[in-house]
Amino acid sequence: GSLEQPTAASQPRTYLAGLFDTPSGEHAIPALVSGPDWLRLRVAMDGVPLPLDSMQAGYARTLDYARGTLITEWRQEDTDGRRMRLRALRFVSLADRRLAVQAVRIEVAQPVWLALEASLEPPDDRLLAVRAASVGAEPEPATWRTADGTGRLAAASVAALQTGGETLPDDPCREPFRHRWGWVAMPDRPVVFSRIVAMVRDTADTATTDPGDTARAALRRARRRGPARLLAAHARAWADRWTESDIEVTGDDGAQAALRFAIYHLVSAANPDDPRVSIGARALTGDSYLGHVFWDTEIFLLPFYIFTWPDAARALLMYRHHTLPAARAKATRLGYRGALYAWESAHTGDEATPPFVIGPDGQVVPVRCGTDEQHISADIAYAVWQYWQATDDTAFLRDAGAEIVLETARFWSSRSDLEDDGRYHIRGVIGPDEYHEGVDDNAFTNGMAIWNLERGLEVAALLRDRWPERWTALQNQLALAPDELARWRDVADRLETGADAASGLIEQFTGFFALESVDLRAFLPWTAAPDVVLGTERTRRSQIVKQADVVMLLALLWDRFPPAVREANFRYYEPRTGHGSSLSPAIHALVAARLGDLPLAERFFAQAAAIDLDDTMGNAGGGVHIGTLGGLWQAAVFGFAGLQSEPDGLRFDPHLPDRWDALRFPVQWRGRHVRIEIQRTAAMRTAKMTLVRGTSLTVYLGTQIHRLARGQSWTCRRESEDQQWQEESQ
Ligand code: BGC
Repeated sequence: GSLEQPTAASQPRTYLAGLFDTPSGEHAIPALVSGPDWLRLRVAMDGVPLPLDSMQAGYARTLDYARGTLITEWRQEDTDGRRMRLRALRFVSLADRRLAVQAVRIEVAQPVWLALEASLEPPDDRLLAVRAASVGAEPEPATWRTADGTGRLAAASVAALQTGGETLPDDPCREPFRHRWGWVAMPDRPVVFSRIVAMVRDTADTATTDPGDTARAALRRARRRGPARLLAAHARAWADRWTESDIEVTGDDGAQAALRFAIYHLVSAANPDDPRVSIGARALTGDSYLGHVFWDTEIFLLPFYIFTWPDAARALLMYRHHTLPAARAKATRLGYRGALYAWESAHTGDEATPPFVIGPDGQVVPVRCGTDEQHISADIAYAVWQYWQATDDTAFLRDAGAEIVLETARFWSSRSDLEDDGRYHIRGVIGPDEYHEGVDDNAFTNGMAIWNLERGLEVAALLRDRWPERWTALQNQLALAPDELARWRDVADRLETGADAASGLIEQFTGFFALESVDLRAFLPWTAAPDVVLGTERTRRSQIVKQADVVMLLALLWDRFPPAVREANFRYYEPRTGHGSSLSPAIHALVAARLGDLPLAERFFAQAAAIDLDDTMGNAGGGVHIGTLGGLWQAAVFGFAGLQSEPDGLRFDPHLPDRWDALRFPVQWRGRHVRIEIQRTAAMRTAKMTLVRGTSLTVYLGTQIHRLARGQSWTCRRESEDQQWQEESQ
């Protein structure tokens, strides 16, 4: 979304997934490096430069979600009243991610001398030139390598200026990647500038060919096809994605807009063809978090991909399989066994969390997440299992997923200690609520660890039964002895959960209930995050929770908790949560919706939606909060529609907010494509499921169960929320 010319408020970046560089020196961490700015334009009318920024009259920018294009328009008038209109369209192709296209149409209201310069600006100075681009009709690509030598980048581009089918010659320019034209523009002769760019990223471990060769070949093919056909292929690729993933909401335009904005970014962020990269906390849309990958990907984003684009989900999980060696090394370094994934991960999977940050008042604040925020390992195992359950991708489970689940289970077993009280404990961690560090028995961490250990045992049994050869090979490779599995069972059975049998309340960590209880309503509306307003010390000594922690556990392991326990814990923790992380509101919307508290769910949904669209946290300039966007999808599908995967099909438990008249979306499950339509009028609620593609599956709605055959629809009705669903008579 950066402008064609940089301004103080808009510094262009061209990020390529996986292109990181780590500066040398103590405490240095990897960061995405920016490739060349491929959009740069300079325009002059009669020698006077026209600024292409957002301050000009007649400036408008339109993001076309349907086609995945950005259209920017300027209508300019100089001091002599001469007028010009410039419309720029751009896209990075979803049909071929190596290609980017820019096209600009220039129209004038009177004859005038125009000059146009188009350039590819040099990349980040952490990218060192290997080979310069050549000048000429068939320009050779330029190549760079990252200063740390782990990545390479190649770029090639062609540009042309045309009017009425005729190509205008450019001025001789001896600089590569720079084109200049000057011409007398006429009112009835619009000119069109077009540029095709090919960029190819390679990492040291995957490099077999020169990225320059790949870029050259891609550009040659693209040039033959031309910008219009490239746009058509790109638009078709987007149309396909929208067919698989659009959510329609009627009755609430704000929610509709937020969901399409979310889906647009979620689709943009993933690449099913590259299992070596994952999605950073701001995807590729900004500088914040340096492109690092967190639990956001597995817990907040993966569900969208699992249910609408399984190939993209698989690639993301394969990234975690490729980074398993680094996760093993981290566990060993900290004195444990198995795999402890990096809290912040980049290209290698080595820990990339900064050891400290500079706080608001200039003090050095140590960051302990890189060693202590360990739930990431269980989160990844959880995502592997969800993917496997929803896709039945046995090749993935057998060849990659099982190893992740076993190695993370092994980590939890080594991380838990049996103490005098006869229970296992996990001491000194950070849970999702990062306001409280070094805590014992964090409920989320322990709950997920138990679940991970159980899945470790389940996957071991499954391999033993179904793929005994693979099981023997893995057992040998991992040196898994039978007594180790017996210990997993014991740890899973006796790990502290923090649950109080009488009240059903789960203590977020040992001693949490004894902390000061603060009424957060007294601080509304928040002017900054709670830890900033109240200070880190007071926050640490209080029950203020940064983000869904116990509530997150409810959301992920819903069926493990009886309804009264879900209700009690949500009511306890919700008023104590400060939502200092953008991840929190959408999960609260999901849980509130499942509990049937629709006004609250709607409020949290709107709060999550506003984070990027209204920049309510004041940091959207650092990139979109892609985890929040994944959370919005989950709030709609898992929350308002109440979707859950069952062993033989899908379950729904719809509760629509007051203003929503209808909610429609597609999901995929084990190769089937299902469409869901939930409608609400004053008199009737209707839920309709259609099996569009694939073999039959079972669908559940309250107490109703139906085996849905291909091409068939099944409709149920009820008059109000408190009635049971009834099958519509056929
Ligand atoms: C949150 C983490 C999150 C990270 C990146 C932090 O502020 O507390 O849960 O993973 O941001 O989004």
